[in-house]
Formats: sequence, structure tokens, C-alpha cells
Amino acid sequence: MKYLPIVLGASIAVGLLACAAANLREPSIADVQVLQARGEPATLSDLQEGKFILEHSCSRCHSSPDAGDGADSDWPNLLSRMSTKAGLDSVSTWRVKVYMASLQQK
Ligand code: HEC
Repeated sequence: MKYLPIVLGASIAVGLLACAAANLREPSIADVQVLQARGEPATLSDLQEGKFILEHSCSRCHSSPDAGDGADSDWPNLLSRMSTKAGLDSVSTWRVKVYMASLQQK
């Protein structure tokens, strides 16, 4: 097992990178209520799924987008380009959209 230290070192490095990328807030029921009041029929699981997609599909090529990116006026346009790159269907894209919108509420 002379490669064990290398394998262990690599897993620790990957673990640390995953933590560094986790800068996105966990969605809450309060977020759902604000979105629903604005006419977006989102559930808590839609928001959780949106966060998951950002962390897994969107960060394949670069780091996860910042919360602030959703406030950019170019965001809708960018999201539609990026969801094509990430191969997302329209429901997944909508979940990313409502999750990012929930981050702008605080
Ligand atoms: C196949 C690779 C790929 C995937 C998957 C991808 N992106 Fe990107 N992204 C890029 C590239 C390349 C750029 C820079 C060039 C451009 O704007 O097209 C970029 C730029 C961005 C930017 C702008 C960064 C800046 O500071 O200008 C944001 C925000 C972003 N992506 C968000 C996302 C989101 C959200 C998703 C998931 C829906 C996603 N990306 C998926 C490749 C990707």
C-alpha cells in the first residue's frame, strides 16, 4: 500500500476544495414564503435542488456563481447561456433561477 498516503492526501485536498466552494446559503421556509408572495410557485425542495445544481452542474467548469451574480442585470441572459452549457432542462434552469432569486431577498 505504498500509494495510500497519496490517495489520502488527494481525498483531503478534494474535501477542502469542496468546502471552499460551499459559499451558497441553505434555503429556508422564509425564502419560499417570499417567493410565493411574489408569484413564484417554488417549494423548499425546488430551492434545495437549485442549490444542488449550482454546486454540481454549474461548477464543473468554474467555481459556483456568487449570490451577487443573480443581482446582475445580465443574469437572465447569462443563465440561459449557462444552462445550455450545463445541459439543464427548463425545470432545472427554473430551480436555479428561483434559488438565486431567493439569495437576493436578504
Ligand atoms: C461547459 C462549461 C460551463 C458550464 C457547465 C457552466 N459554465 Fe458558466 N461559464 C463558462 C465559461 C467558459 C464562462 C466565461 C465565458 C462566458 O461568459 O461565456 C462562464 C461564465 C459564467 C459566469 C460569468 C462570470 C463572470 O464573472 O463574468 C457566470 C455567473 C456563470 N458562468 C454561471 C454559470 C451557471 C449558473 C451555470 C449552471 C447553470 C454555469 N455557469 C455552467 C463555462 C461553463
